[in-house]
Amino acid sequence: MRRTVERYVGDQLDVPGLIARKRDGGELSPEEISALLGAYLVGEMDDAQMGAWLMAGTIRGFGERETVALTEVLLASGARVDLEGLAGPTVDKHSTGGVGDTTTLIVGPLLAAAGCQVAKLSGRGLGHTGGTLDKLEAVPGLRVDLSVDQLRSQVERLGIAVAAATQDLVPADRRLYALRDVTATVDSPALIAASVMSKKLAGGARHLLIDVKVGDGAFMRTLEDACALAERCVALGRSQGRRIAAAVTSMDEPLGSAIGNALEVGAAVEVLQGRRAGPLRDLSIELAVLSLQLTGVGRRAAEETIRQLLAQGAALETFREWIRAQGGDPAVADRPWEVLPVAPVVREWRVMEGVVARIGCREIGRIAGGLGAGRRRQGDAVDPAVGLELALRVGDVVEDGQVGARIHARSHEDAEEAARALDDAVRIGRDPVTPAPLVLEVIGDVEGDAASAPA
Ligand code: URA
Repeated sequence: MRRTVERYVGDQLDVPGLIARKRDGGELSPEEISALLGAYLVGEMDDAQMGAWLMAGTIRGFGERETVALTEVLLASGARVDLEGLAGPTVDKHSTGGVGDTTTLIVGPLLAAAGCQVAKLSGRGLGHTGGTLDKLEAVPGLRVDLSVDQLRSQVERLGIAVAAATQDLVPADRRLYALRDVTATVDSPALIAASVMSKKLAGGARHLLIDVKVGDGAFMRTLEDACALAERCVALGRSQGRRIAAAVTSMDEPLGSAIGNALEVGAAVEVLQGRRAGPLRDLSIELAVLSLQLTGVGRRAAEETIRQLLAQGAALETFREWIRAQGGDPAVADRPWEVLPVAPVVREWRVMEGVVARIGCREIGRIAGGLGAGRRRQGDAVDPAVGLELALRVGDVVEDGQVGARIHARSHEDAEEAARALDDAVRIGRDPVTPAPLVLEVIGDVEGDAASAPA
């Protein structure tokens, strides 16, 4: 990084000129991107200047060459995990962030049971979205602070390990993300692609499946933006020699009915036990199938394998051993609701007669966050026990007084506040409503048809 900076900043990098060029819709060369980022990372360009450049690019858009250059600079800022030499294909499934999206806890064991090597560096929830690490830590005793060597050796033994990204993994993204978070520049497809892909590429897996969420609860609100993000991720992965696909999936209402860390773990266990159907299960199966396809398995065979592993309990067994290996109580795989922490107050929230027209996804994420399930700022503690269990999906016909949700709270006051917020977040109408399909597009290195994906 220092070398890059010396090359370009040494002879007076014209930072205001580069910001102005972006503001006016121009493009920066890879060398200029590298110099600009380099200058920022060594403190020769300040937060205000970087914020202005990010905002100019968020509004004007970044070109493909710029996105590649950005990704390469981020990637070069830190260490890479070496997964070479593991026995099976290395696979990483990543979601761009959503609500009630616990698919990693289901897809991971499914793929490991199918012979893949799932070495995953995950994040924590932020804002209205949940994070895999927070969910895992809801299991008593479970640890996510594995070293890269521990991660690798656990994957060698079990086929799966999920750990917190170490401080030296893409440190530049951490700095840039923190700035984007406070300058309203998160939701740029190019910046998200560079941020996500630099971390995925540093994570070392050869096969990558990116679940690009779209809708009210996602960073990308329109299908057009989500497809642009998906295409950029695929192009970036391919440019680094990865086999990669991106599925654009709906986040217009929470994916699973459980929102909150322990509640989501319990829901994932019930899917693995074969006791819970619905969109969380359907999408998990689809993502596992697509991941397996990336490793060269045909669509039909991949579907058969994944469904069998689920039906025969092999994925549940892998989940149990995975939890045990990371210090968690393995009984969570058998009796989740006895093992996981429970909130002291559970309050029912009821609806009026009609048809569920809207379940405000972002709002639901915020309500769960307000109960303590999420964090406002990085570093805040989360309460593993609290959250919501929704008993509705868009399009459902409901009766007067029917339970629409169960609120799991620390106090009666918190539960009342959540109930009031639910009144606003959920809309009951009169007309029939057709819910959006779960999987909207699949692009990248998989044969077969999204048409056979669950609706
Ligand atoms: N997730 C990331 O890792 N980065 C982003 O920019 C957005 C979501």
